[in-house]
Amino acid sequence: MVKNTQGASIMSLQQDQQHLNDILQAAHDAALEFLKSLPTRPAGRAPQTLPHQPLPQEGIGARQALATFRTRYEAWLSASPGPRYLGFVTGGTTPAALAGDWLVSAYDQNAVSGGDSLVPEIERETVALLRALFNLPEAFEGVFVSGATMANFVALATARQWAAERQGVDVTEQGLWSLPPIAVLGGSPHASVLKALSMLGMGRQSVELLPRLPGRVAVDPQAAAQRLAALRGAPAIVVASAGEVNTGEFDDIAALAALCKTYGAWLHVDGAFGLFAACDPARAHLLRGLEAADSISADGHKWLNVPYDSGFAFTRHLALQRQVFKATAAYLGEGSNHIHDLTPEDSRRFRALPAWMTLMAYGRSGYRELVARCCSLAQQLGQGIEHSPQFELLCPVSLNIVCFALHGADLAQRDQFLEALKADGTALLTPTHFAGKPAVRAAFANWSTSEEDVVRILGALERCARQVLA
Ligand SMILES: Cc1ncc(COP(=O)(O)O)c(C=O)c1O
Repeated sequence: MVKNTQGASIMSLQQDQQHLNDILQAAHDAALEFLKSLPTRPAGRAPQTLPHQPLPQEGIGARQALATFRTRYEAWLSASPGPRYLGFVTGGTTPAALAGDWLVSAYDQNAVSGGDSLVPEIERETVALLRALFNLPEAFEGVFVSGATMANFVALATARQWAAERQGVDVTEQGLWSLPPIAVLGGSPHASVLKALSMLGMGRQSVELLPRLPGRVAVDPQAAAQRLAALRGAPAIVVASAGEVNTGEFDDIAALAALCKTYGAWLHVDGAFGLFAACDPARAHLLRGLEAADSISADGHKWLNVPYDSGFAFTRHLALQRQVFKATAAYLGEGSNHIHDLTPEDSRRFRALPAWMTLMAYGRSGYRELVARCCSLAQQLGQGIEHSPQFELLCPVSLNIVCFALHGADLAQRDQFLEALKADGTALLTPTHFAGKPAVRAAFANWSTSEEDVVRILGALERCARQVLA
């Protein structure tokens, strides 16, 4: 330890380096304590506003920084990797993925660097493992991105390039300025699709919401056929949902693929979590026709159970994708096979390693079991909701999502219910709006959730509903 002019202790980087073992041991202990706390830690915590720490003039060293972080903040972290966090679509972290993720930081490789590390090749191997997991033909190339939002962005950017090319414009060079709007058709596209269209300069309003099948969120293929025919050959992008976020429902991908073939449209399949239906032979039929898609997006940080952030974009049009994302500069070197030519980022972390670790550790059968179990837990909760006098199941449980309402509750009561649930701490669920009602969703995507957890979750739901509806 050295002293500054006021005599205070200063921890230098060199000193921390000498104590690296102790620092990593302290981080290891913190991680294990956090993970052990998951069964008892409140599933969600109400957000806090704490006074922000000023930037210290002199640093306090890594061990003190970690201790300060833990004292000030750790209690306020949610148990989002735990078994009863059912908000959004939140995956857990498998032990192998966690170990891989730690090593990503230690290795600190720039995944896109060409020619000085094997990392790009390992990323390609991991993409091939994922392709095998999802039973995708080899014609699909894939890349890692930060999540399904970015995967949708990559896919739609590639589709935009295709649509513009069909009208004689290279949009990556000339922009969209001379083009008529490109139609984007879908039944219930996820919010991230609209966000991607906004980022792409195509505009959120370029999405045309097509009629859906009666009582379903799946698009009506007949309506899609009529709309595509009316476009008279103008290039269109059809966005199919493989796992709609409120219901887990699937569009009829085979029907949409056939229409896209007939009318020469691009088919993008958003399978953020639903692509994992491919892992379970009992549910793989939901993805029938997927092999004919032009692009597919999915998340790693959902059902693969790797830590944030991880997603993948698959396409069979790599040359178009490269046209959009290529980055050429003398200092980046020559070559046509750079990963940074395929994604929005140039430099980025070795995102494939946690996925590689978990795929190797648990294999096809591990993921079959994980997906089947989450779906069966969703069924268990759905049946409990159906039999409870306080709740109303709003749609059949078709995959891993349960969508329900409190009988007769208005928006304020639904929100009070979710707040009561957060305060109770047993489980965390998130809101939505469905079938004209303020609703609640529970999404199962964590390897560690058990049947006993579902019993506890149902108990908490009923307890909190009684509080609100009393
Ligand atoms: C169908 C679908 N697409 C895209 C996304 C966006 O995923 P992310 O937030 O991981 O980017 C989600 C998130 O829940 C989703 O359910």
